[in-house]
Amino acid sequence: MEAILLSDLILPRLVPDSGESLQNQIAQCIQRCVLDGLLKVGHRMPSTRALASQLKVSRITVLRVYERLTSEGYLSASVGSGTYVADTFAQRGPRERPTPTATGISRRGAQIVSSTQGLVQLEGAFVPGVADISQFPFHVWQRLQNRYLRKEFNMLTGYGAGGGYMPLRRALASYLRISRGVQCEPEQVIITAGTHQSLDLCARMLTDHGGTAATEDPCHWGIPTVLRAAGLEVLACKLDDEGVVLDEATLAASPKLLVATPSHQYPSGTVMSLKRRTELLRLAHERDFWILEDDYDSEFHYDERPLPSLQGLDTHGRVLYMGTFSKVLYPGLRMSYVVVPPALADAFATSLAQLFRPGQITTHAAMADFITSGHFAAHVRTMRGVYAERRATLLDSFSRHLGRAATLSGGRAGLHLQCHFDPALDVGALVAEGAALKLSLRELQYYQIEAGQPNGLVLGYGGVPTEQINEKVALLAQCHERLMG
Ligand SMILES: Cc1ncc(COP(=O)(O)O)c(C=O)c1O
Repeated sequence: MEAILLSDLILPRLVPDSGESLQNQIAQCIQRCVLDGLLKVGHRMPSTRALASQLKVSRITVLRVYERLTSEGYLSASVGSGTYVADTFAQRGPRERPTPTATGISRRGAQIVSSTQGLVQLEGAFVPGVADISQFPFHVWQRLQNRYLRKEFNMLTGYGAGGGYMPLRRALASYLRISRGVQCEPEQVIITAGTHQSLDLCARMLTDHGGTAATEDPCHWGIPTVLRAAGLEVLACKLDDEGVVLDEATLAASPKLLVATPSHQYPSGTVMSLKRRTELLRLAHERDFWILEDDYDSEFHYDERPLPSLQGLDTHGRVLYMGTFSKVLYPGLRMSYVVVPPALADAFATSLAQLFRPGQITTHAAMADFITSGHFAAHVRTMRGVYAERRATLLDSFSRHLGRAATLSGGRAGLHLQCHFDPALDVGALVAEGAALKLSLRELQYYQIEAGQPNGLVLGYGGVPTEQINEKVALLAQCHERLMG
């Protein structure tokens, strides 16, 4: 489509005083056209220069839009030949996906649809948060599942009990006590279908509509979305070297919840100090709020033993501990858990059943066996070695190709590092240059709740084969060189 035609589609949809940035509005518009099939797979997008000139916006704005849509899987870029509508994203019929205006959905619905969206892309350098599944023992996993898909286990094919399959809750309680210092009995472990469901359940059970919830800024994109969808106002809390900071203004707004990632802050990578942990636990007790500890990737820790969970230090029963199998095994499994204080266990199990009618019991049963028979621990051990090697290779390649031009931090655990450059570098332009070389770079600002965070990159190394890391960093260094001279 010519720039002029695409701009005809976009311009009428731009609302100058909507409070939404032009960049977001243009991105959403193109996204809509892709989803509605107006822009077909393989379609060549106009050059950023041509589209910027038609839309009368800066070229950087369009570059960033293309970069964002590329990293979200809507567009793909190839060096020298331009940007195309990607075939990695399923296109849907024009009426299958509701738009806020077309279907009269609620304000809350519109907010959910328009909030920052997660990645669908699970490969490439350097997509954050991606686990490598090439070494997952699928043959074992398949055998364990098949075992329960036989007639004698037909009691596992109905609805699940609130809280999940008890043998899995037992296996997890024992694993979490040993490996993460979580204080728990099996009844406290509630099996959920992904961290968003854990968070949603906690928000519904512990807060009322119109309340406030605090979270780290920047943070995982889904946290503010789920909290707002539960009718909560989100308070963005700054971070320092010791972790999240709860200042007086935040406390004065009486949050009912604080969502935090103490073991490995997402995305900055900071590990919360013991002093800050103790302070937060004291505040939660004195000011009467709950802490939702999101421990999403600390199975992979490198330099030293990780600090045990925040929940393990809690003497007043104010912490709910959330974990997931998305990083340790794979995200499509949609299996996670939340460990709640004993006094909340029955209410949470009942409400999970009331709200979501859980199932997947055969998968729960296979997972219980996977853990108790030692396959889970063995897989974590293997992957810790693989990721440690990738992390070391990434650090080494950065120092070789970028030297002091880039500072990497936040890699004591998990699958990503944070990267900062000279403030004079336009990180958005770097991302756009990288996209043309098939590098998937994620800006730190993508995760911010309040604008104005220092910018940089979040570099995921989990899904990048070790032997490709050096070559990818060399490409990144070329882009950097082009922009900085
Ligand atoms: C901070 C954080 N928590 C949790 C998750 C995992 O979410 P889920 O269990 O829904 O896959 C992610 C995924 O990227 C994350 O970044």
